[in-house]
Amino acid sequence: MTDQLGQGRDLHLIDEIPERLDEQHIFTTKTLGFLVHPNLSITSPTAKIADVGTGSGVWLLDVAKNRPSTCQFTGFDVTTSAFPASETWPPNVSFKIHDMFLPFPASEVGTYDIVAVRFTSSVAARADWARCIANLMTLLKPGGWLQWIDSCNFALYNSTAGTSRAACQEIYDGLDLFRDKVDPVIGLMMRESKNLKREDVFRELGLVDVHEDVFSSDKLQDPESHARDKETRNIMACFLGCLEEVVAVEGNGWTSQRIERLKEEAMKEIDNGVYHTLDQVCIVGRKPDGA
Ligand SMILES: C[S@@+](CC[C@H](N)C(=O)[O-])C[C@H]1O[C@@H](n2cnc3c(N)ncnc32)[C@H](O)[C@@H]1O
Repeated sequence: MTDQLGQGRDLHLIDEIPERLDEQHIFTTKTLGFLVHPNLSITSPTAKIADVGTGSGVWLLDVAKNRPSTCQFTGFDVTTSAFPASETWPPNVSFKIHDMFLPFPASEVGTYDIVAVRFTSSVAARADWARCIANLMTLLKPGGWLQWIDSCNFALYNSTAGTSRAACQEIYDGLDLFRDKVDPVIGLMMRESKNLKREDVFRELGLVDVHEDVFSSDKLQDPESHARDKETRNIMACFLGCLEEVVAVEGNGWTSQRIERLKEEAMKEIDNGVYHTLDQVCIVGRKPDGA
């Protein structure tokens, strides 16, 4: 997943802040209603589960809590920056550096029952996405499952008449730098324009029992906890983090001052009830038993 800011540079450019990821994990899990998709019929007490692009490992650690201590869990990420401190890792959980586009060590190949990926791309082109999935499939045992969760179709709304959402919109529109892809297929900053048939990418790579669910973040109605407000601040912090990364790139019009101004104005807009929605996409597929 390359971008126009640098060949081969990852689409998710920011060093993720663990607290932001942990908060996002709560919203996402409530929206989806599961950590592991119910179609994934893996109940073995010795199952091996990988989380690729693990970030703070919040998904993996939560899954580990809900499975027998005889299962094994590995988080892979291209950077250690959000990994939890090693002294806090449960004995059956480990974290390793690995770029999901590069071949995995022979010791990992064909050993996993579940390989999960969540929110690793801003926008992925179809060919890059397929290349990545093919690489992740090498981790799976025959009969093992791939689960890919990502989001698309961000949109902004007012909840009170006469209030502005201009700053939030300007932040989102500023992300065009990341968005300009040929044949985009999945990712946070993407707006779907046609029937993407993402499941076909899974099927063409040989996965079976492929299924896609799409959940709107609107599903989460939790006015007491101000979830909608908190989620919008969380996603704006993510977008602003991406824009901070491009300040140094010449000629794109982004300066620290512009970002600071927009941050302040966007937070006021959210105070006034502006909020966002997203589609959370979960696609699952199984490696055939004989493969
Ligand atoms: C938005 S965070 C999501 C973290 C975690 N999956 C979650 O849902 O909380 C994206 C993560 O993907 C990682 N990432 C991006 N490109 C990657 C790559 N090519 N290989 C492995 N990890 C990658 C980033 O370092 C970052 O930790």
